[in-house]
Amino acid sequence: MANRLVIEGGKKLSGTVTIDGAKNSAVALIPAAILADSEVTLEGLPNISDVETLYQIVGELGGSVEYNEHKAIIDPSEIVDMPLPSGNVKKLRASYYLMGALLGKFKKAVVGLPGGCYLGPRPIDQHIKGFEALGAQVTNEQGAIYLRAEKLRGARIYLDVVSVGATINIMLAAVLAEGKTVIENAAKEPEIIDVATLLNNMGASIKGAGTDTIRIHGVEKLHGCHHTIIPDRIEAGTYMIMAAASGAGVKIQNVIPDHLEGITAKLIEMGVPIDVHEDSLEIGEAKDLKKVDIKTYAYPGFATDLQQPMTALLTQAEGSGIVTDTVYPDRFKQIAELERMGGKFKQNGRSVVVYGKTALKGTKVTATDLRAGAALMVAGLIAEGKTEILEAEHIERGYGNIIQKLTGLGAKIYKESGEPSIS
Ligand code: EPU
Repeated sequence: MANRLVIEGGKKLSGTVTIDGAKNSAVALIPAAILADSEVTLEGLPNISDVETLYQIVGELGGSVEYNEHKAIIDPSEIVDMPLPSGNVKKLRASYYLMGALLGKFKKAVVGLPGGCYLGPRPIDQHIKGFEALGAQVTNEQGAIYLRAEKLRGARIYLDVVSVGATINIMLAAVLAEGKTVIENAAKEPEIIDVATLLNNMGASIKGAGTDTIRIHGVEKLHGCHHTIIPDRIEAGTYMIMAAASGAGVKIQNVIPDHLEGITAKLIEMGVPIDVHEDSLEIGEAKDLKKVDIKTYAYPGFATDLQQPMTALLTQAEGSGIVTDTVYPDRFKQIAELERMGGKFKQNGRSVVVYGKTALKGTKVTATDLRAGAALMVAGLIAEGKTEILEAEHIERGYGNIIQKLTGLGAKIYKESGEPSIS
C-alpha cells in the first residue's frame, strides 16, 4: 500500500541526530553472512525495509535471523540452494548479492533480476563477467539469472566500469574459490571495505579493499563472527543538506567525517558553517547560500546518491548551479517534482541547471525513487505550506526512523497510510 509523508515546511531544525549503519553495506553484509557455516552477528544495522526484505529472503533459503531494530544474528547453517527466480528478490536492487554469495557457497544459484530504484539502465554485465571468469556458466532465463559452476577458480578480472555492486559480488563469489583472484579497476567505496572486513573476520583472505586492486586468496570455509557496520554516509549527507536548507544548529553524530569529504567541501563552498569533530559534525545556520557546481563520480568523488537532494538545496542559493551526474545520467526524476513546488531548472542531457533564490511551495509530489524522495524531503522542509510526498515507501527503503529523527530536530512531519507505521 502506498504511503504518504506529510511535511509542514518552514520549521527550523535544531538538535542532534544519530546516523544508522550504512544501507549499502547492510544489503551486502547480510548476503555475505550466508557464506559462513555458523552464526554471524551484525550490529548497528539500519531499520529500513530493504534490510527487512533481506531477512525474509534468508528465511526463504532456510536460514534463521533473530533481529531487533539495529542488530541481527544470522544463522546460515541450514541454508540450502533454493532457487529465487521471483518474489522478494525483485523488491531491491541489492538482491544481486545473492548471486555471488549463493554461487560461492553452493556453486549454483538462481536469482530473479533485481528491482530497486529506476535510475536509467542499470546493467549487471560486469558482475556476470566476473562470475564467468571464476568458472561459472551464466544464463538469463525469463527474468532470472541462472549460475552454475563445476568448480570456482580464482582469476584476474578487470572491471570495464568501476562498479560497487560488481566489486562486492565478485568478492563474495571468490572468497571460497580455489586459488587467487585479482579484481582490477575495483570500486573504492567505504562499503566495499566494510564487506571485506566482515569476510576477513569470517576467515577470508582479502587484501586491498578500498584501493583499485583487490587480491583474494580462496579459503575452504568461513565461520561466524561479530561485526559492527560503518555509519551511513548517504544518510549523514542527507541530514547535512537538510540542516543546510533549514537548520539553526544541527549536530550529526555517528559519522566517519572522511567519508563525507565531498559533501562537506561543497556545503562549505556554499557558505554553510561546518565544524568537523572525530565522529560528529556540527552544521551551523547558513545565512546566504552561494551556488556551487557539482559533478558526481565514483568514490571518493561526489556521491551520486547526494546529487538529488543537492538539487533541492540549490534552489535556495544565490546564482545558478550546474549539477552533472556522470554515474547515472538519467537520475533526475526529482526535477519534475521539484518544478511542481516552484523550483526552476533547465535539463540538458546528464546536467541540470538549478536556478537559485526560488520560493518553494508545498504541494502533492511523488517520491519516484529513494534519493528523489530525499530531495523532496529537503524541499518540503524549506517550502511554504504542506508538502505531501506520495509513494514514500521508497524513502523507507533507505532512511530508518525518518519521522522520529526529523521530529526530534523540530520538523513537522507525519505519515498517512493504511499500513502500520514503520517510522
Ligand atoms: N554499471 C555497468 N555494468 C555493471 C555494473 C554497473 O555498466 O555491471 C554501471 C552502472 O550503470 C552505473 C555505474 O556502472 O553507471 C556504477 O554502478 P554501480 O555498479 O557502482 O552501482 P550499484 O552497485 O548498482 C550502488 C548503490 C547505489 C549507488 C551506486 C553508485 C547499492 C545497493 N547501491 O549501486 O545506491 O548509487 O552504487 O554509488 O549499493 C542508493 O543508495 O540510492 C543507490 C542507488
